Amino acid sequence: MKVRVHATIANFGPGFDVFGVGIGEPYDELSFRESDEWSIRVEGFPVPADETNVAVVAARALARLVGEDVPLELKLRKGIRPGSGLGSSGASSLAGALAMARVLGVEDEGLILRAAMEGERAASGSAHPDNVVPAYYGDFTIISTPLHVDRIPVDFRVAVVLPEVEVPTREARRALPGKVPIGDAVSNVALAASLVKALIEGDMERAGMFLDDRIALPYRLKLMPWYGTVRRAAMEAGAWGFSVSGSGPAVFALGEDVVQIGKAIVEAFEGLGISAKAYVARAGVG
Ligand code: HSE
Repeated sequence: MKVRVHATIANFGPGFDVFGVGIGEPYDELSFRESDEWSIRVEGFPVPADETNVAVVAARALARLVGEDVPLELKLRKGIRPGSGLGSSGASSLAGALAMARVLGVEDEGLILRAAMEGERAASGSAHPDNVVPAYYGDFTIISTPLHVDRIPVDFRVAVVLPEVEVPTREARRALPGKVPIGDAVSNVALAASLVKALIEGDMERAGMFLDDRIALPYRLKLMPWYGTVRRAAMEAGAWGFSVSGSGPAVFALGEDVVQIGKAIVEAFEGLGISAKAYVARAGVG
């Protein structure tokens, strides 16, 4: 049996730890079957092939949540680069939880998502939901505590560019302050509310106007010193809006000609001596 879990853009501008959307590529694939003992093989991007792999962590978490213990033989095709900002650990975690759910016949979405978030906790020290939830549903998702999910069905194309640098989520989270100025919090609420309205109306040009973030990204820019240059290139190429995907370093842009915008972003990275790969991804794969 096999599950495929695609990449996600978390935060999506102002929605730190709250917004996310599924994108069609890249993705992870996990083959699984019941066995006498736990084992995992990995192909593709290198990640641990032992019990610390988040797919194993999440699968075991689900078994524990339902009071079972079934070892699995897993084969992970790791298509999402770790440390990319595209929900790599979230995808593998969800794949592990889904595999165990299939084996045990668990259908409770809340339990599956909670187990997947345990994989996130193992990977980054925080059980943030904004990769595993949109990876599960594919839609644009809004998550409020405790794990209440609102879904907005969307279908748009987005330029996603992944540079050959790594920003570990754990480090990006350490860069965050404990408190933010109230003016910045107010700005983010306003941006997030207007963004949601634009998405519901399917007005992506307007959505692009609301991708700024004042509560997380500014504190992370020391880990992404290229941000200003690359953003400028995207906007000059006609982007309606630009931001970092998750905790970075992947970036994304909305616009009419996402192929051209992706190229401009790659060139801007290359001008700084950083190679990068552009994807034109379909967002909203629910
Ligand atoms: N919301 C999380 C963060 C996403 O920005 O730290 C990590 O991919």
